[in-house]
Amino acid sequence: MELSTAQIAHFHDRGYVFLENVFSPPETSLLCDEAHRIFATSREEVVREKDEKTARTAFAAHHYNEAYRRLGCHPRLITPVMQLLDGPVYMHQYKINAKAAFNGDVWQWHQDYGTWARDDLMPEPRAMNIALFLDDVTEFNGALMFIPRSHRQGTLEAGHDLQTTSYPLWTISNNEITRLVQEGGLVSPKGKAGSIVLFHGNLVHGSPSNMSPFDRTIVYLSLCHVDNHIRRFKRPEWIAHRDFTPIAPLADDCLNELINVRAA
Ligand code: SIN
Ligand code: MN
Repeated sequence: MELSTAQIAHFHDRGYVFLENVFSPPETSLLCDEAHRIFATSREEVVREKDEKTARTAFAAHHYNEAYRRLGCHPRLITPVMQLLDGPVYMHQYKINAKAAFNGDVWQWHQDYGTWARDDLMPEPRAMNIALFLDDVTEFNGALMFIPRSHRQGTLEAGHDLQTTSYPLWTISNNEITRLVQEGGLVSPKGKAGSIVLFHGNLVHGSPSNMSPFDRTIVYLSLCHVDNHIRRFKRPEWIAHRDFTPIAPLADDCLNELINVRAA
């Protein structure tokens, strides 16, 4: 799947592109079911919320789950990112965020590249996210919020927040967020399961807690140009990967093939 010239221009101008109906209901159901099976395991890669029970994030599922291995090489995700980053990419981080009904906690305001630069010594923001909604995302279940054009501000000052949630994050101050929102406003991409959103490594984003009775499962591939691989291995391998092999996209029907094999 290739992005159009208008979509590429939107990404460079605003820092994100949102596309609906990219994955089918059977594909997203397969991935959502597998995500809940993963959340129910006690693997170290599954980080819990502060209640120590609810799954918050499952990292590196491509290492231990066949559906997620295939999704990590899916042409509808890899090809547009190769287009935007202008060359081969490797998987820097791979996570399924649960944002569970009632218990899914906030993600504070941050830039992902802020963490990749400070913790992992990634040389440049030639890395980005592509996210796939596995549930419908609405105004009720903790949708992502973006500050359009904030990716043009470089890497902003941030503090290491070890308190607010169970997961440490380099977060941006309220004063800085106020200034950025005065300039760029706010957007919140919402849509059906199967929608995708691509966003720049320096785009400032966050999400509120989920107090609705609806889960908000989203899977994120953080992809980096292979020349721009991380230089420091401080975080566990399952959080910041060290395999810089270029990803070779699989066939477009790679998930349907798995669905058919399981149905047979
Ligand atoms: C993130 O920014 O890494 C996650 C945000 C979310 O899933 O709401
Ligand atoms: Mn983020």
